[in-house]
Amino acid sequence: MKKRDFLTLLLVLLFTVTQASIINIIPKPTKVKIGNGVFKLDEKVTITVNDEGILELATFLEAILEQSSSIKVKSALKESNKGNIHIELDANYKGENKEAYSLVVTTSGVTITASDHAGLFYGVQSLRQLLPASIESDERLAVNNDITIPVVEIIDAPRFGWRGYMQDVSRTFYGVDVMKKYIDVMSLYKMNTLHLHLTDDQGWRIEIKSYPKLTSEVTTTFPEQYNQPTERSGYYTQEDIKHLVEYAKQRNITIVPEIDIPGHSWATLLAYPELGVNDNHTPNHVFPFLASWGHWGNQFTPNSLDPTNEKVYEFLEGVFTEVAEMFPSQYIHFGGDEVVHKFWSEQPHVQKFMQDKGMKTITNLQSYFVERVAAIITSLDRKPIGWNDILADETLTKETAIMSWLGEDAITKAVNNGYRAVATPTYPLYFDITQEGRNDGTMADLNYGVINSLEAIYNYDPAQGVAADKMSLLLGVQANMWPAVPQEVKDINVQNFPRLLGVAEIGWSSLENKNFAEFSSRIEENKKRLDFLKVDYFTPGGYISGKWTPSDVTTTYAVKEWDVTNKVYTSGRVITAFFFTDGDNFLEIDGVELLADGKVISTDAHYGLADDKRGIARPRTYFYNVEVEKYDADAKYTLRAKIKGKGGSDSAGNLTFNLSPYKPFTAIEKR
Ligand code: ACM
Repeated sequence: MKKRDFLTLLLVLLFTVTQASIINIIPKPTKVKIGNGVFKLDEKVTITVNDEGILELATFLEAILEQSSSIKVKSALKESNKGNIHIELDANYKGENKEAYSLVVTTSGVTITASDHAGLFYGVQSLRQLLPASIESDERLAVNNDITIPVVEIIDAPRFGWRGYMQDVSRTFYGVDVMKKYIDVMSLYKMNTLHLHLTDDQGWRIEIKSYPKLTSEVTTTFPEQYNQPTERSGYYTQEDIKHLVEYAKQRNITIVPEIDIPGHSWATLLAYPELGVNDNHTPNHVFPFLASWGHWGNQFTPNSLDPTNEKVYEFLEGVFTEVAEMFPSQYIHFGGDEVVHKFWSEQPHVQKFMQDKGMKTITNLQSYFVERVAAIITSLDRKPIGWNDILADETLTKETAIMSWLGEDAITKAVNNGYRAVATPTYPLYFDITQEGRNDGTMADLNYGVINSLEAIYNYDPAQGVAADKMSLLLGVQANMWPAVPQEVKDINVQNFPRLLGVAEIGWSSLENKNFAEFSSRIEENKKRLDFLKVDYFTPGGYISGKWTPSDVTTTYAVKEWDVTNKVYTSGRVITAFFFTDGDNFLEIDGVELLADGKVISTDAHYGLADDKRGIARPRTYFYNVEVEKYDADAKYTLRAKIKGKGGSDSAGNLTFNLSPYKPFTAIEKR
């Protein structure tokens, strides 16, 4: 290497390192030019806007600046005489779209410019990420009274218009406050679509005034025998939805509602049995997903909506009309996945219907159903979207968009056939799947053979295989969270973070700006922000709380204790589990006790077998539920279990201990 080349390389490296340590914005902006010096935020800050319609953005920023510092902000509408921070709505701003913005910091102040509220909002979020992570604190911190922002010029615009996260609120219900926190965090990372999977076999979660039985107890509440905390049951009233939609809109997030039909409709059929294709309604209540095997022998509902029944279409018209009134979203999702067609084809009345209509295959009937539903949604002036199972044949109207979950080629198949598509392949974008390993101690769905690591997500390009002339059909990318195994808010947080930040970046940043090593350093900085926001995230190896080895095990029951003090950090529910990893013998457990300073505070006495079964198709008796009703910061916490080796003492494994605060987002696990 020539000396001059070496010096250039050194300068580039130095610049990159400096840049990385100052600008940690996620997702990575399109262009960042760092200048000399800093802008210092004084005790008194003025924020000005040039348009009354964007005053709320000043208020939003004001709240962020004031909540944890002694800074006093004055916000005002002013065309001239601009404040230290000025937000400029400029119809002539030459951004690529409504979400584009520019953010300029000089030694005397900050100017954010965009042609739309959306871009300005993202300019504010980028400014927020230029402030220290401690600004997110809910306590006043002296360090926040002395803030400097680097001089920088940022020009930014997203790669995709759909940067989404799906929350299934049927398998497990999450209340308005939890979803508002998700909206807050998603918007901090410039994600703009929250897809709510509102109905499924495990519960109907939205009030429909014309069909009040949909939200009766049997369709929304898990009976006591399933041992589910009360907050996992419930539904959103129309008032709740109005509130959520407005809250999301202020943060540039569209909520896309999903009513999953004609399969996944157990809750609907409990309320209105006459809409079923058969008369199977056992058991006559909703129950958590993992109990499906006990009732049906598998996860699939032995009944569905009847595609031959006009009353079904009348019902759907009523439901979708109210849904459209509640959600201003352009797209309305009707599911369409995993219909077990056997339950249709075995019915004589269905066979007759098909014969009368000249339908040769059950796929024709599926298409007929999908067409009828798509027509209902289109008649409401909205666009239908469904899971890629609906793309059974070529008759599907091109107005219908496809959410591709079954394999990456589902995306190319959709766009090559002229459909708009959202990329959400199970691998790597299902976040109930583990991110490190099968023994990483998280509450993950281990039924899948894959690992959806942060790196796999980051390296995934939703556009791979999509021809340039089909790119306009690719709406964007989305991560999905199905809370069947991870149900506690803490547990879905651990699954979602930091992976959701990876999705934010692949949805927003250009390919040429992507670099996993550099992203990883920004992630580390952003973990500090998540800490202040009290959002738990995955920590490699952090969920193994203890071990057992052959030296701990005998062939008769003996007591073993683990110190779990550093895993107890607030009052809450605990799932503790014994993961067999190695040896010739499984482990038998004769109940567990949780102790505080030597006193038993919680017990789960059931017999358990820690074996090598990691799937979800059977009860896992090696999971235990205990509770810390009243946290004592000074106490020593111990988990005690009676254990023995089954048929021999050669057994080894991990103990996991996952505490979830009763009140989500109030405390995070100790690091
Ligand atoms: C799905 O995962 N059934 C869309």
